[in-house]
Amino acid sequence: MRISIIGTGYVGLTTAVGLASKGHDVIGVDKRQEQIDLIRQGKCPIYEKGLEELLQKTLSSRKFTLTSDTSNAVSESDISFICVGTPQAEDGQIDLGAIREVAEAIGIALRKKDGFHAVVVKSTVVPGTTLDVVGRIVEEKSGKKAGAGFGLAMVPEFLREGSALLDFLEPDRIVVGVEDARTEKMLSELFRNSFNSPVILVNTKTAEMIKYANNAFLALCISFSNEIAQVCERSGGIDAYDVMDAVTRDGRITVYGADGKKVVPGIAKYLIPGCGFGGSCFPKDLSALSHFGKKLGIKNSLVRESLEINETQMRSVADSASRILGGLKGRAVAVLGIAFKPETDDVRKSPAIPIIEGLLKNGAKVRAYDPQALANIRRQFGGSIEYSKSASEALSGAEMAVVVTRWKEFEKLAPEDFARAMKKARVFDCRGIYDRHAFSNKLEYYRIGYREA
Ligand code: UGA
Repeated sequence: MRISIIGTGYVGLTTAVGLASKGHDVIGVDKRQEQIDLIRQGKCPIYEKGLEELLQKTLSSRKFTLTSDTSNAVSESDISFICVGTPQAEDGQIDLGAIREVAEAIGIALRKKDGFHAVVVKSTVVPGTTLDVVGRIVEEKSGKKAGAGFGLAMVPEFLREGSALLDFLEPDRIVVGVEDARTEKMLSELFRNSFNSPVILVNTKTAEMIKYANNAFLALCISFSNEIAQVCERSGGIDAYDVMDAVTRDGRITVYGADGKKVVPGIAKYLIPGCGFGGSCFPKDLSALSHFGKKLGIKNSLVRESLEINETQMRSVADSASRILGGLKGRAVAVLGIAFKPETDDVRKSPAIPIIEGLLKNGAKVRAYDPQALANIRRQFGGSIEYSKSASEALSGAEMAVVVTRWKEFEKLAPEDFARAMKKARVFDCRGIYDRHAFSNKLEYYRIGYREA
């Protein structure tokens, strides 16, 4: 099939390369010429396992081409996927500026194009946006009717940063929101022929809601675990990790096979106490969903509470560090891990940001290290913190190590590694990486969700 993908960010580029690798003729569109030039050279603008290699393959087979001309891409394809960003606006709702711009360009292109064309929204948008915003604009600009002159659909994306390509190529399920039979047939064929995953057919508003409900559910699980961590910490003598581990083994969460062996469910990864969630999705999506609910008159919002718990959790780290050290003024603190999660260089809404801000506010001298994200965080903090080339450089002479992101190389650090490098070894583990007991006699070890009785 001939497919145009508008927007070559995280979702757009992965979708484009993924569909091209499955044999489709894909045209990637971006208005940023420098982004196109970079991708054309086979360089991946984001750090994502396997993506650059597959990009180069699909470019050399000519299955993937790029342009900045939306009109041309639309006229040369049968389906357009809208993959532009929907950033958080000042009031917490989503900014539809880019969506509107692309819908206009598609509409103008469709006015000149003969034949049926499907317009598919992949960006995360609140229920009703595909029909009421995208559909209306395309109708107005093209002079055609949705469902007759062109098709309208919403296909949310569930990929995770760090495993984006795999998530795209082997999705758990593909949700297809459609309004007319012709678009349903086109997209069902596309997805059923190219993927082995179940296709869930719904209307566009339901598809939009599924995306929000899915992310909100995952984030809620994290905030629930973090609330339990807050209670355990204040109470003293209760380890929140032991609590959540036992809760996760409930037979209604963990499934036990006939041989008694447990099958650890994916959701267990979201039931681990920590210093909070970040990234470009959870905070933004929860905020948009709570605003959407508020507009509908919903007063008590679990989603809003979950955002607040997250904020408290992130901000609590600097306070705990200050309490442990008896003040932070002039004290050297190493922050290990800046990316919002491992296997990515993305620092958007990373918990490391409020943590560093809190440490700086209390007068600490912060030295940061991350295997991938240092360049990105330098833009944020400039000369106000130091940047280290390795974990041991960051630890050297520090009075406390705050471990924020669960990178594999930090998991490998033994108590002796901290003891050797640091002035007075104190580890503050914000992800429950280390065995509390292994540390006890060798150096001071503190962990989110636990305080001595
Ligand atoms: C998330 C969803 O998992 C994807 O399904 C979705 O497609 C994507 O958002 C999106 O809407 O685009 P992602 O933001 O890449 O994906 O990251 P996750 O792996 O889900 O982690 C999100 C955040 O939660 C990270 O900051 C992570 O450190 C944090 N987290 C995760 C915790 O704090 N505790 C946990 O137990 C698990």
